Amino acid sequence: MKMNFNFRKHVALLSILAFISLFNAGSVYAQKNTSVKIIINPDHKGPVINRHIFGHFAEHLGTGIYGGIWVGLDSEIPNTRGIRNDVVEALIELKVPNVRWPGGCFADQYHWRDGIGTPDERNSRINVSWGGAPEPNSFGTHEYFDFLNQIGSEAFVSANVGSGTVQESADWLEYLTATGSTLAEERDRNGHPDPYDVEFWGIGNEVWGCGGPFTPQEYITELKKFATFTTNYNTDVNTQFVAVGPDSFDEFSFGYTEAIMKAWANKTWTWNIQGLSLHNYTRGGYPPEIPATDFDEKQYAEVIQETLGMDEFIAENRAIMDKYDPNTEVSILVDEWGAWYAPTEGTNPGFLQQQNSQRDAIIAALNFNIFTRHAERVHGANIAQMINVLQAVILTEDEKMILTPTYHAFRMYVPFQDAARLDIEFDAGKYQIDDIELPRVDVIAAKGKDGQIYVAITNIDPNNTASFELPIEGFTINNIKGETLYASEIDAHNTFDNPDNVAPKKIDPKVSQNKIAVNVQPQSLTVLEINTKK
Ligand code: AHR
Repeated sequence: MKMNFNFRKHVALLSILAFISLFNAGSVYAQKNTSVKIIINPDHKGPVINRHIFGHFAEHLGTGIYGGIWVGLDSEIPNTRGIRNDVVEALIELKVPNVRWPGGCFADQYHWRDGIGTPDERNSRINVSWGGAPEPNSFGTHEYFDFLNQIGSEAFVSANVGSGTVQESADWLEYLTATGSTLAEERDRNGHPDPYDVEFWGIGNEVWGCGGPFTPQEYITELKKFATFTTNYNTDVNTQFVAVGPDSFDEFSFGYTEAIMKAWANKTWTWNIQGLSLHNYTRGGYPPEIPATDFDEKQYAEVIQETLGMDEFIAENRAIMDKYDPNTEVSILVDEWGAWYAPTEGTNPGFLQQQNSQRDAIIAALNFNIFTRHAERVHGANIAQMINVLQAVILTEDEKMILTPTYHAFRMYVPFQDAARLDIEFDAGKYQIDDIELPRVDVIAAKGKDGQIYVAITNIDPNNTASFELPIEGFTINNIKGETLYASEIDAHNTFDNPDNVAPKKIDPKVSQNKIAVNVQPQSLTVLEINTKK
């Protein structure tokens, strides 16, 4: 009887705990632990994870450039030649490999001559793509390259195909890269005698939509002209020409990959491309209605599910490219990706301003992992966008600046830049809510340029911790360090009043009996650095 009584009490207590757990997703009551074994094969090196996979995108849109980067020479906000110092300092930490500029849709309304010469005499225009905002052109070519130089990054210029001419594009790249021509002398008079390095040259943007609109065949006619007559004269750099490819959302863009790769396979000696751009946002339809904060677990799972669709989108395009280009001469550059939510209330909807939460750090990590798994073909990707716009890494308000959870994800992944992907095995398990089934965890590993092994672990599951065990096979350990980005609420975010609410913390993984053991929190991102002995 007594045992029965106790048993009933125990069951009752469990029921209460289960009940509480329903309303405390992520709380201690709901948590159980999943055990995951990761086998790393340090000798099976895969392709290099091109550092350009961690690229950024900065468009003339909202306060992305004006306010976010450029405050002007007379600003009281500390700046160097008009570019804010706090932002530069933060971006240096990310080792930003390239910044795609000036758009986006804006690129196809941008005329580069508006943005050179004496600032007071520059043409001002109206940014018709984004909120009808005034465009003073104070941030132009030289300011962009000054910014790149200050943060130690490379150039990805998107040329105007939609409303520009082939001659305009040819002149811009000559102005940037030539020596001894009239345009080179003009650059010199404008303060830069040496040619600039231009790593990437985008031939238009979303030419099936805001940058055209062209059918694939119409664009191919333009592409051939722009690629034939736009020349890089700086022999220190092999500028990569990037053609416009599809967007996962836009029905008009379907068929671009097939048409362009077919045209490329049959090309003449006069033109070439080295990259094909893909765009893929997490936005659940248009206009975007997903809230950036104050969402529930189901909404979280829906967004993660959509994000994971990046894998299939790349795989489908890769398969088409493999048919025409089996030797991977043309790379995929996912030069716009990120979460696109409903705009922050009270802001100009054309400015695409949104908060950034722990969910966004998970989204960033999952995208990095997908790009890494496709590293044979994906040689670049650009987060949309760098500052104050969409899934930004930095938010500013006048003189204030905060780093977002997405910033921390980028910073934690820095060692993966140009690292060699390592083969790993693990059981991702399953996280389910209603009809949505997702992998519970995701992991990638790489051998860094410094010779150390790096492992990135994402725990997608918002309710359960996970303990990982990594048998030490094929390498010996000198020491091991780790960092984790965790927040008890999945929509936790940083604000100007509470800038470090979500920030990485050091962890201390244990090594015993020839295994590394690490426990990761729900809805978290962890990066381990395994210092191996020679
Ligand atoms: O990043 C915002 C916009 O999204 C870009 O300007 C455009 O290329 C895409 O549709």
